[in-house]
Amino acid sequence: MQRRTAPGAAKLLASALLIGCLATGRAAAQDWGDTPYVQTPQNVVDTMLDIAKVGPGDYVIDLGSGDGRMVITAAKQRGARGFGVDLDRKLVALANRNAARLGVADRAVFYQQDLHATDVSAASVMTIYLLPEVNLMIRTRLLATLRPGTRIVSHDYGMGQWLPDYQTELAAPGKTVGIGQRSKILYWVVPGRAAGRWLWRLAPDGKPADFELALQQNFQAIEGTLKSGGRSARIDQPRLSGEQISFTVQVNGATHDYTGRIVNHAIDGKVRIARDGKSRELPWSAARVEIWDPRHAALNTEQALKEIQ
Ligand SMILES: C[S@@+](CC[C@H](N)C(=O)[O-])C[C@H]1O[C@@H](n2cnc3c(N)ncnc32)[C@H](O)[C@@H]1O
Repeated sequence: MQRRTAPGAAKLLASALLIGCLATGRAAAQDWGDTPYVQTPQNVVDTMLDIAKVGPGDYVIDLGSGDGRMVITAAKQRGARGFGVDLDRKLVALANRNAARLGVADRAVFYQQDLHATDVSAASVMTIYLLPEVNLMIRTRLLATLRPGTRIVSHDYGMGQWLPDYQTELAAPGKTVGIGQRSKILYWVVPGRAAGRWLWRLAPDGKPADFELALQQNFQAIEGTLKSGGRSARIDQPRLSGEQISFTVQVNGATHDYTGRIVNHAIDGKVRIARDGKSRELPWSAARVEIWDPRHAALNTEQALKEIQ
């Protein structure tokens, strides 16, 4: 990764982490894109894993794993498996010793490896505590590589225009950086690819009718227009979470509530149709006849990095 001069805002944040490093007695060569070692307080680790609902079926990857606490806690307390990577050889050795001491060395493993060169495709949950510019450096790759539905949980820093699905702030006793010993937790679900032109047929009144949905996507945000019987209407309450999609739309005086799951170029789900106080449910199967790129796919890493300038 090419080194660049840190822009103002990021430099301040980097300095905050660096001050933390110095406060904890660790020297660090701080530069743009080099995240120094600062521990996530244990109560923040626990809350991050709660928010991501980490359980026995999960595979957790921590990029920049420090003493291993994210993956070790996920393995020890929630029965998950996973690995962490860190550039610092001593921290990697410490993390593997900690995993052995706590009896989870078979499920929590740590490697000395650059996070930018780490294959993350096995993750069902990814944890990060990295500088904001590093989050933006890895964003394109995470969106392209992680399976839809993978949960990402970040300590303190966001992903620029990729807004979190959920965000909270909490007391972080013992935190050595930032102001007032508080931490932010930000949470995303990797969105499936929903953009495109979708077709389906329904017989809401006994007569078959054709529906065409033009769906635009930017990260997990979707918007679209539904055409049927020569009329068109914007969809309301659109929501995309991983592969799960839902929206509401008014069709000929009836309210259609669609919920379904996108699998490749098909959606399978159901639609609840309500009119005059009565409602009924029908199966919903849609086929994608045109695939469009989500808007975020046009942003490369250089463009993403400008989001913090
Ligand atoms: C802020 S600490 C977070 C440690 C741990 N994940 C936690 O939350 O307690 C960031 C860690 O990332 C590591 N790191 C920085 N750049 C890295 C890179 N390119 N590849 C792998 N690890 C890196 C640092 O050595 C440091 O241990």
